Amino acid sequence: MFYKSHVFFCTNERSSGHVRGCCSSKGSLKLANYMKARAKELGIENIRVNKAGCLDRCELGPVVVMYPEGNWYKIETREDVDEFLKNKLIDNNEVERLKVLDDE
Ligand code: FES
Repeated sequence: MFYKSHVFFCTNERSSGHVRGCCSSKGSLKLANYMKARAKELGIENIRVNKAGCLDRCELGPVVVMYPEGNWYKIETREDVDEFLKNKLIDNNEVERLKVLDDE
């Protein structure tokens, strides 16, 4: 594979008052930019962080999905980003605190 892991960070924006809300209104664009920058600063290789459109789990956002494993995460703060990068992408340990379960 060209990348070991591909991280998609929803940055979808909807008008205020939309019944489902959106990840952008919860700060996802700044968090996605921070994740991309920190991953580069930390020299994490063979991964790609991309901004994504709606991933259809809006109520749980800001959401991230990682492939090829297909795990989902809720990332709300810069500290969450740091924990995700260090534990999941550098040390290859699961970050249970941030995981979104398949049936949520
Ligand atoms: S707006 Fe982010 S999952 Fe729908």
